[in-house]
Amino acid sequence: MNQTKNQTRIVVNREFTVGDIDPRLFGSFLEHLGRAVYEGIYEPDHPEADEAGFRGDVVELVREIGTTVVRYPGGNFVSGYNWEDGVGPRESRPRRLDLAWRSVETNEVGLNEFVQWTRKAGVDPYLAVNLGTRGPEEALALVEYCNHPGGTARSDLRAAHGFREPHGVKLWCLGNEMDGPWQIGHKTAGEYARVATETAKVMKWADPAIELVACGSSGRGIATFPEWEATVLEHAYDQVDYISLHSYYGNGDNDLPTYLARSLDMDAFIRSVIAAADYVKARKRSRKTINLAFDEWNVWFHSKEQDRKVEPWSVAPPLLEDIYTHEDALLVGCLLITMLRHADRVKIACLAQLVNVIAPIMAVKGGPAWRQTIYYPFMHAATLARGTVLQTHVHGPVYDTKEFDQVDVIESVAVHDPHEEVTTVFCVNRGREPLSAEIELGELGTEAKLLHTALAHDDPKATNGPDRENVVPTVLRERMVANGRVDVPLAGLSWNVLRVVPTR
Ligand code: AHR
Repeated sequence: MNQTKNQTRIVVNREFTVGDIDPRLFGSFLEHLGRAVYEGIYEPDHPEADEAGFRGDVVELVREIGTTVVRYPGGNFVSGYNWEDGVGPRESRPRRLDLAWRSVETNEVGLNEFVQWTRKAGVDPYLAVNLGTRGPEEALALVEYCNHPGGTARSDLRAAHGFREPHGVKLWCLGNEMDGPWQIGHKTAGEYARVATETAKVMKWADPAIELVACGSSGRGIATFPEWEATVLEHAYDQVDYISLHSYYGNGDNDLPTYLARSLDMDAFIRSVIAAADYVKARKRSRKTINLAFDEWNVWFHSKEQDRKVEPWSVAPPLLEDIYTHEDALLVGCLLITMLRHADRVKIACLAQLVNVIAPIMAVKGGPAWRQTIYYPFMHAATLARGTVLQTHVHGPVYDTKEFDQVDVIESVAVHDPHEEVTTVFCVNRGREPLSAEIELGELGTEAKLLHTALAHDDPKATNGPDRENVVPTVLRERMVANGRVDVPLAGLSWNVLRVVPTR
C-alpha cells in the first residue's frame, strides 16, 4: 500500500445533498436455509422461547441491530416452494425435499408464523414469490391470501387459519436470481421478463398498494449482466418499482488491501445498474424512475469448504455458518458507506442474512445468542443513519492493488438528520497505520461537539463467539468542534462513527 501521508481531510457541506435515506436500506433476509429459521428465530424448546416458539433473545438482538424489513422465505429456496404447504394446521403440513439446499423442509414455520414474528421483531415483511416452478396464478393467490380483507375463498382461508386482519404486506419480489443456472426454474432474460411482467400485473390488480422488485443480476460477473436488466425492464418497466442486485464478497486469497477495496466493485455494480435502468427509461421516454433494491449483500466465503461435507437431506443442517473476522466488519462498513452514497437510487437493501446463515446474529441450540463482528457496523448505520446523505470530499492518501487503482485509505460518508440537527460521519480506515482526520463541517459545526465510537482491533482475523465478544465498539473521548473543524484520530483498520451534536 503506497500510503503517502498520515493525514486526511474530510469536507462536508450541508448544501451538497445526495438524497434522503429510505429506512429500508437497512433491511435483512431470512431464508428457509440451514439453521436460519429452525434453531435460529424458532426453537420451541429453548428456555427463551415464547408461546409461539420464537426465541426472545434472538428477537431482542434483531430489535437492537435495527433492521427494518426482512425478506422471506428465499433465496434459492423460494424457487421450489409452495407457500400453501406452510399455512393451516401444523399436523397436516407436508415434509418436502428442498432441492435448493438439499435439505428436508418440515413446514413447521410458514407465512403466518413469519408475519407474526415480524410484528414481535418490529420489522416489515418483504415477501418473495416463486417464479421458478410456479407463476402468476400462485403469486396472485398469495397476495389475495395475505392482503385481501375478506369475502373471497383465499382471504377467508387466512381468517380460518386464525388471521382475520389482512397482513398488509407492502413489498414483494418477483422470484429470486432467475438469471442463475443454479436456480430451480432458471430462465433466459426474455422468459423471465414475460413471466415477471404478467405476474406483476395480476399482483398489482389484486392490491394496487404493493411495491414490486424485479430480479436483476445475481452478480456483476455473470455473463448476462447487464443485458439481463435491460431486457427485463424493457418488458416490465411500467409494472415494477425496483430492480434487484445481489453480491457477496470474500478474502479467499488473503489479500487485505484488495479485500477492503471490494466496495469499489459494489460501487461499479450500482452505477451500471442505474445506467441500464435509465437507458430503458430514455428509450421509453418514461417519467418514471426505477430504483434499486440491493436485496442480498454480505461477506460469504468462510463456510464454503465445510458446507461441502454437510450430510444432505437433513432438517436444519448447519449451512453457511460463516464466522466473521474484524476485517470482514471493516468491509461491511465500506459496503454500507457505498450504499449510503447512492441513497438517491438504492432505496432497499438486505444484509444476507440475519440469523445463523451468513449472519450478524448467531444462535446456539439451547444456548445463547451472540453478535458477530459485522453486527456492529450494521447496527450503527441502521440506527444512526437517518435523514439526508451529504457529499463528502476526502483529500488523503490512496493506494493501488492488483484489482483496484486509487483506493482512498479513508472511506467515508456523511449523513445529516435535520430533526435532531445531528451530522454523522461514518468512516473506515483501510490502512494499518493510524491516521489523523481533519473534518471540515462548515455551518454544521457551529457550537458542536463530536462523539466518537470506533471498532478497532490489532488482529484483522479476530472473531467473536458465544462465550467471548472480542471485537466490540469502544466509545472514545469527546472533542469540541472549533470554527467548524475538528481533528479526529482514526486507528489503523478501524470503523468509526463520528456524531457531531449541537451544544447550544
Ligand atoms: O443467501 C444465500 C443464497 O445466495 C440465496 O439463497 C441466493 O439467492 C444467493 O445465491
